[in-house]
Amino acid sequence: MTNALIENAKAILRRNDKGSYTVPTHGLYPFQWNWDSALSALGFAHFDERRAWREIETLFAHQWPDGMVPHIIFHEEDKGYFPGPDVWQTGRPTPTSGITQPPVAGFAVRRLFDRVLDRDLAERKARALLPKIHAWHSFFYRDRDPDGTGLVAITHPWESGRDNSIDWDAALDRVPRDGLAQFQRRDTDHADPTHRPTQHQYEGYIALVQAYRDAGWDNRRLHAMAPFKVVDPGFNGILLRSCADLADLADLLGERDIARKSHDFVTKSLAALDDLWSDRHGQYLCHDRQTGAAIESASVGGLIPVFAPIPKARAAAIADRLATLARTAEYLAPSHDPTDPRFDAKRYWRGPAWLIVNYMISDGLAQAGQHAMAARLKLDSLRLIERNGFAEYYDPITSEGCGGGSFTWTAAMVLEFLSAQDQAA
Ligand code: DGY
Repeated sequence: MTNALIENAKAILRRNDKGSYTVPTHGLYPFQWNWDSALSALGFAHFDERRAWREIETLFAHQWPDGMVPHIIFHEEDKGYFPGPDVWQTGRPTPTSGITQPPVAGFAVRRLFDRVLDRDLAERKARALLPKIHAWHSFFYRDRDPDGTGLVAITHPWESGRDNSIDWDAALDRVPRDGLAQFQRRDTDHADPTHRPTQHQYEGYIALVQAYRDAGWDNRRLHAMAPFKVVDPGFNGILLRSCADLADLADLLGERDIARKSHDFVTKSLAALDDLWSDRHGQYLCHDRQTGAAIESASVGGLIPVFAPIPKARAAAIADRLATLARTAEYLAPSHDPTDPRFDAKRYWRGPAWLIVNYMISDGLAQAGQHAMAARLKLDSLRLIERNGFAEYYDPITSEGCGGGSFTWTAAMVLEFLSAQDQAA
């Protein structure tokens, strides 16, 4: 069974490989997506190390001059996706979107560097990527945290990667929608509409794109004018882990300036992250930077910070929280608490389980010594795959595969979970 899973996972990566980048899945997502690529590179590393590095190099070849790495790179024309380059109008040589995504590349590059066999190649590639990834991290702490709080804000739900999470409901509802141009969604041509965000949510997403486009995609100004500004513990946890990994990598490669600045980011941000902890919920919560209030929504975004070097007691509390969630979800980790009346088992980030999330949480738990829960996440991930193949996400109660099929990063995570060096075992 294991060998068949490994061969199926590799076949999916090859099928979705466009040469220098990988599509998440054909049809629904026909371009290069930022965090999909970084995590998918880990899958390629199991059978083609050069191709793994290439995936991340292609992503950073489209970095903006201010350091931002866009969430989509539109390498080819494809009318089957909305919103395409004509909507974003970012004016980049190769069209890109104008927002970013969870900065997991620092973690991915460190993991590749530690693991791959071709050491000369690894050193060359990591050394070249290091300043680019650092520029991305610097962009966040400069332009998404202009007051120097230590925590960065996302200015669009898509930046979180958890597009339609319950976390964003109230903040997205407040986004002005007047002047919204008519549009035709294409995602529901490719996936079951009941698994996707609602029309009302899409209107909010596109209203934000229009507002930032009208402001000329000027990242120096966007944080101040953004009608949506939320501090997501999951996003900040991923950034923190990438900064910590980049600091270590820079130390190893003798890049002292990047190492020092990255260590400073980690120290400051780790202290600030603790302000998002909720004793009542036993996890971290989002913070709405516009209202100044905590967002009462127990989503998986509040568990992802275990991926970062948070205090051991917090990691233990997150393992306990997962044990509580396991009483109502047959498969960990639901993207939202099933006991919340807003939970929706099949609708994208309002309930379903995702393998990439399981991988990050499991990795963090293992590093914090929470091996039993780390192993449970791995086991549940493999049970999901065995039952329902390489889906985009899964109903955490029934295991049904939802969203797109033959999904690249799901396949990459299976290769990771089944690899000999599995940190969660
Ligand atoms: C989509 O199109 O659904 C994406 O998640 C936006 O990046």
